[in-house]
Amino acid sequence: MKKAIGLASRRKFLQFLAASPAVCLANQASGQNLADIYAPEAIGKASDAVNVFDFHEVVKETLQAGHYTYMAVGADDGGTVRANREGFQRLQLRIRRLADVSNIDTSVELFGERYPIPILIAPCGSHKAFHPDGELAVARAAKSRGVVQMLSTVASTGVEDVNAARGRPVWYQLYPDERWDANEALVKRVERAGCPVLVLTVDNIIRNRDALERFRRNSNPECQACHAKGSGVIPTKPMFVGLPERTGSRLFMDWDFVDRLKNTTSMKLILKGIVTAEDASLALEYGVDGVIVSNHGGRAEDSGRSTIESLPEVVDAIDGRLPIIVDGGFRRGTDIIKALAIGADAIAIGRPYLWGLGAFGQEGVETVLDILKRELEIVMRQASTTRIDEIGRDLIV
Ligand code: FNR
Repeated sequence: MKKAIGLASRRKFLQFLAASPAVCLANQASGQNLADIYAPEAIGKASDAVNVFDFHEVVKETLQAGHYTYMAVGADDGGTVRANREGFQRLQLRIRRLADVSNIDTSVELFGERYPIPILIAPCGSHKAFHPDGELAVARAAKSRGVVQMLSTVASTGVEDVNAARGRPVWYQLYPDERWDANEALVKRVERAGCPVLVLTVDNIIRNRDALERFRRNSNPECQACHAKGSGVIPTKPMFVGLPERTGSRLFMDWDFVDRLKNTTSMKLILKGIVTAEDASLALEYGVDGVIVSNHGGRAEDSGRSTIESLPEVVDAIDGRLPIIVDGGFRRGTDIIKALAIGADAIAIGRPYLWGLGAFGQEGVETVLDILKRELEIVMRQASTTRIDEIGRDLIV
């Protein structure tokens, strides 16, 4: 982790630079400030964070390289990870003035429940790779901030323990297997645990990730110590224990599979990974209960298309008939308000809470949620909106 001394000397250096006559003149001429004044910093404690990127700086320096790469990586060489961020820059806010914004209400309703902020915890695998408390730390943070936690199929903690730490059942994300009896047994276990919503991830499991290839577990000595077969360090994924042995992942699904799954469970079924109007219309036709506009944080396919730019066609096709959540690249309150303006009901975050988790455990996740809430409140005030349902398309251009 970068030490406080490092930060102090960097600040000193920046002050020195800013005071230099040559830089002042150059800045005046270009009308720009030093880009470096916006650079995130590797903070020493969660409460020092200015924005969510500060947590990223910490994990870059502290996580084991293979684990950091697993978190950061995108499909191919990461073009869609970058696209997810760049998409927000192509949308601007039309700010209205002069309204009473003394009281801001950021709460939203999803499936009949009210939540204090329109932010969900996206399902991400293997939290213990980032912090020893893993999914339990995230569950405690989700409990204290009252948000929905979606638990990954490949979590490093079982759903029953996570539910106990969350204080209520989480939403469960499903990666199906080729074997139907393995899927059925997993779904029944999740149902017994009381989960109200099943999130079926529909983006294709066949992926190409250059950076991760460099950490191939069977060839990289650093990874092999724990990941090699027979090392005994990493247990079987807790959600697969006691269930029919899985063949691995399912190579493809179709709408009949969605139908079969829907008829197998009493949980609400939502599809994660919808990015087109055509598939949104089929989701309606097949009677699912909601959709998540997602490209898996740019990790599934390198489409080059951001989710914020995929969102309008999905919103138009769904036309208010199903809840819509969107994820991919959300790092700022201004990103969130743009998605709500297009018509999403809520957004989800992946890497930002993993950065918080990796840096400071539960407190890190809580602070990430607090920062995003604070930023959302600020921009809602600035935009003269006091409730989420007042945020409409007229706000963006
Ligand atoms: C993911 N994501 C993911 N999605 C899913 O459905 N099941 C999973 O197990 C995982 N695992 C996973 C691991 C890691 C390390 C990351 C970063 C992401 C995708 C995740 O749910 C979400 O769609 C994206 O993370 C959202 O994008 P941002 O917020 O990370 O940009």
